[in-house]
Amino acid sequence: MRIDVVTLFPQFFAEATRIGVVGRAQERGLLSVVTWNPRDAASDLHRSVDDRTFGGGPGMVMTVEPLRSVLKQAQAAEATPAPVIYLSPQGERLTQRKVESLSQLPRMILLCGRYEGIDERLLDEIVDQELSIGDYVLSGGELAASVLIDAVGRLHDGALGDADSAKQDSFANGLLDCPHYSRSRRGGAQDQQTAGVPPVLLSGNHALIAQWRLKQSLGRTWLRRPDLLARMELDQAARKLLEAFRQEYLADHETARQGWPAANMPKASQGQRS
Ligand code: ADE
Repeated sequence: MRIDVVTLFPQFFAEATRIGVVGRAQERGLLSVVTWNPRDAASDLHRSVDDRTFGGGPGMVMTVEPLRSVLKQAQAAEATPAPVIYLSPQGERLTQRKVESLSQLPRMILLCGRYEGIDERLLDEIVDQELSIGDYVLSGGELAASVLIDAVGRLHDGALGDADSAKQDSFANGLLDCPHYSRSRRGGAQDQQTAGVPPVLLSGNHALIAQWRLKQSLGRTWLRRPDLLARMELDQAARKLLEAFRQEYLADHETARQGWPAANMPKASQGQRS
């Protein structure tokens, strides 16, 4: 996959895409990230890329011409057409499902804004999709583009050390991930190393371990992100596991709850550790 990024800060991507999974994917030739700086297409001495807004108000807006010019160059750099994706808080929310579908593309062009944003006429003319990484405002699209590159890059076969890792991620099946425990090498007696680890994980019974992991994923999603569960259709086996988790959770918290004022009751949706 080739990702072109239009940005006023190419050095940000030089560093961010050199390390970790994305760095490895680039080294292995699975992914290439190419940056384009609109300043290089500016026509004046000061290499300006922004101007004051029509209608007045604070801040500057990125102008049409330099952006159009570099976007066209990026598009023409390869014969395969590439959708132009603008990262902005007004965009559609990025989800794992969206990431999976983008990772199937041979190419995409990411457009990063700065200042108050980009002239709407350029967006109307060239942008195919607008994506947001969350309901908060960053000072530019670079961090959001970097998040997207990481999420997409790690899905390419061979980018992750273990091909199964991505399948086990949070959201891969619509649920949050289960807890994980390291095989600690801290020394000490065997029972100290395994203290606090759920016994089923030490059993060697892979069917039971898979079932425990699914139950924890269901339970965590119920506790922390009930909105995700509400959108899913669970089969009968999953419904049974979730019901067992709920019963155990409620029984565990019953004793604590009896002595508590109502305001401190554990809430199912807050994601706090208990
Ligand atoms: N640019 C600024 N804020 C952003 C956000 N939340 N998502 C994507 N791009 C952004």
